[in-house]
Amino acid sequence: MKQQQLKNNRFCRKCYKVVLGLGLFIGILSCETKSQPEIVSPDGKVTVDVKVDKGVPLYSVFYKGEPVILSSQLGFKLKDGMDLTNHFVLENITATEKDETWQALWGPDKQIRNHYNEMVVHLKHENLNIFMDVQFRLYDDGIGFRYAFPKQKNLGDFEIMDEVTEFALPADHTCWWTMADFDSYEKLYNKTPVSEAKWVNTPITMKTQKGVHLSFHEAALTDYAGMTLKLSDSKPLTYKSELVPWADGVKVKTSAPMHTPWRTIQISDDAAGLIESDLIVNLNEPNKIEDTSWITPMKYMGIWWGMHIGTETWTEGSRHGATTENTMRYIDFAAQNNVEGLVVEGWNAGWDKWGAKDAFDHQTAAKDYDLEKVAAYAKEKGVDLIMHHETGGDAEGYEKLMEPAFELCRKLGIRALKTGYAGGIYPRGEHHHGQYMVRHYRKVVETAARYGIMVNAHEPIKPTGIRRTWPNMMTREGVRGMEWNGWSDGNPPSHTVTLPFTRMLAGPVDYTPGTFDVLLENFKDQRVAWNCDDLSKTRVHTTLAKQLGLFVILYSPLQMGSDIVDNYIDHPAFKFISDININWDESHVLNGEVGEYITMARRSGDEWILGSATNETPRELKVTLDFLDNNASYTAQIYADADDTNWETNPADYSISAKTVKKGETLILKLAAGGGQAIRFVKK
Ligand code: NOJ
Ligand code: CA
Repeated sequence: MKQQQLKNNRFCRKCYKVVLGLGLFIGILSCETKSQPEIVSPDGKVTVDVKVDKGVPLYSVFYKGEPVILSSQLGFKLKDGMDLTNHFVLENITATEKDETWQALWGPDKQIRNHYNEMVVHLKHENLNIFMDVQFRLYDDGIGFRYAFPKQKNLGDFEIMDEVTEFALPADHTCWWTMADFDSYEKLYNKTPVSEAKWVNTPITMKTQKGVHLSFHEAALTDYAGMTLKLSDSKPLTYKSELVPWADGVKVKTSAPMHTPWRTIQISDDAAGLIESDLIVNLNEPNKIEDTSWITPMKYMGIWWGMHIGTETWTEGSRHGATTENTMRYIDFAAQNNVEGLVVEGWNAGWDKWGAKDAFDHQTAAKDYDLEKVAAYAKEKGVDLIMHHETGGDAEGYEKLMEPAFELCRKLGIRALKTGYAGGIYPRGEHHHGQYMVRHYRKVVETAARYGIMVNAHEPIKPTGIRRTWPNMMTREGVRGMEWNGWSDGNPPSHTVTLPFTRMLAGPVDYTPGTFDVLLENFKDQRVAWNCDDLSKTRVHTTLAKQLGLFVILYSPLQMGSDIVDNYIDHPAFKFISDININWDESHVLNGEVGEYITMARRSGDEWILGSATNETPRELKVTLDFLDNNASYTAQIYADADDTNWETNPADYSISAKTVKKGETLILKLAAGGGQAIRFVKK
């Protein structure tokens, strides 16, 4: 930490005396309501002003001198009428700076620079004698701010009834958003002006008239309620934080000292820059797990898609997917094709009671599934068996069963787990995104860490960067993923090229790309509808080559090849999935526009892998191979849409070709409508 001079041109020097304290901070000794401290990002482009106006704390944000957030309110309403939105005075301000580079255990990038200027505004409520701090961190790629209530005499346990953080926008930007929901993020994105995005989940992405891209989200969501954003009825284009409530209506139950999650705004000159920003992970605490030797990224498959498309069932019976025999068939294929993991759903007792309280038993196998035998066989073949714990939403029941179930994993040498909360939460009235469940999800991650288990959570709380602190929190759903193509109208071509610029700004996603039989034709006679009326509408809305492109683009440290094994056996395109190592060292966005197209390049050791994808529009994208090493030739193994491919009527045609390339050369990526491309660059 280094002393940072507050830019004090805005201070009224007559009113304030700025002193240096112990070389670490700058404090303002006297205080007055007209104060307007300002802090800038390391590159000087992002600025935050704070003031207390007639007792009301306000902040505003600028990028390159233009307003991003107009003067917006800060504060809370607590239980018993304690109003922490006014009657504040500014006590003093402290400032620090940090510039460090930390190593991520895994991630799209392994080296991350954390460079910010920080200002903490210390406020005091004059009537209630309550102290509240607002801590701002300014990065070149945006800001984070959070509230802190220090230990104090007049505030012990307290309940937040409303957080009144506002985000007043200067113009009616274009935005990409999903409708706020206290229980699900499994939605398609809307593209509208802000004025039509009345109540949204975060992250929400915006584009200004000048082309600046913004993303609003939160970081380090810990023991607090998830935040949605709601447009004010009375103030123009002003979002207010709307926290997900407990069953009794309280938003957050807490006690001082505490701090809230960070409220974040990522800012970039283009869409690609949002993806390259590390702001969310940087605002989280460093790794807390000492021995991380058991945490590694992996490609995996599953006894999974068959249930979604209705050729198999989770429940026991003649079409049960998770039989010993079937699982061993998958293990054989995985071992022979460099697939590191296998999840088996429906392996345990309780699926016939899905939705009921205490339905699932995570220790007792189905009658036709020999867990010990399967686990030993997987071990012998070098495949990681991934445990599956569906809870149906019964978090309360799961907390009772968790430890023995994890102990069983440890005994069997299982180090990865997929959890699921598909259903209303028990205790009834609690929400997937409220404080009760935020606590629960974290408890699972921390307990799993003690047992040496990596977590992939479905129906989760949104990612907020805790993977930095708990690197066994690998990936999660929290998205309208592949499964929806199996039993609904599915996900249109634009969906998967919207996600990298929206949901994925929050963190990795278990979307599960890699379905090759996009028309769901191969086993259509065996399909039984279980979650929709009309199977004829179900299909995957991409070309086959786009599935490979998405395998690269939709980042997940546990990356699933989602199709059933029968569709992979002897399929030439599977070589791409088989060949690549997804333990990435660095990643770059080569081009992209929200909801339109994207091309990414990722490096793993000496190899580079490129993935590209488009929406309904066919296009030719020119990419320059600047990322390759100097003085080396590479073989580019190219998996592309064929000339007459299009996602609607001819999605399965693809071509595989190879050519020699060098750094600086250009390639034209020809993407079909709803298509994509994937390339593996191997040094010669
Ligand atoms: C919903 C999950 O998203 C899916 O992956 C899983 O197969 C089912 N629940 C059953 O657990
Ligand atoms: Ca789901």
